[in-house]
Amino acid sequence: MGDPERGKTLFVRMCSMCHTPNQGGASKLGPNLFGVVGKVSGTNTNFKYTQQMKDKAVTWDQTSLDAYLEFPKQFVPGTRMVFNGIRKPDDRKDIIAYLYTLK
Ligand code: HEC
Repeated sequence: MGDPERGKTLFVRMCSMCHTPNQGGASKLGPNLFGVVGKVSGTNTNFKYTQQMKDKAVTWDQTSLDAYLEFPKQFVPGTRMVFNGIRKPDDRKDIIAYLYTLK
């Protein structure tokens, strides 16, 4: 597991312009990410996902989040998440450790 404190700092810098992390948080450009770990992709009822994200129907865990955050457009072709991906494995690990705290 990575370092969730460092992950939080990275989240604020790289993700928070599009995602809120708090319970009941608003959708921005992207869906609210509270409770995202263990959830099936594309299932927040108050967010309009791409069909591709819904069809992916992957359960978000360490492995799937790592693959998505490394190359979003490769893991979910057609995703509307306009984000190039995080190349540094340690950065992904820390952000995912932070996502695990959102429950
Ligand atoms: C430019 C805006 C933007 C940025 C920056 C961004 N995202 Fe996203 N994200 C989106 C959008 C839009 C979607 C929905 C994609 C779709 O429906 O295809 C999404 C979807 C997701 C999902 C799937 C959620 C679900 O409910 O299935 C996860 C997980 C996620 N993003 C994590 C992150 C993380 C972590 C970061 C930072 C490293 C990040 N995103 C950066 C816009 C963004």
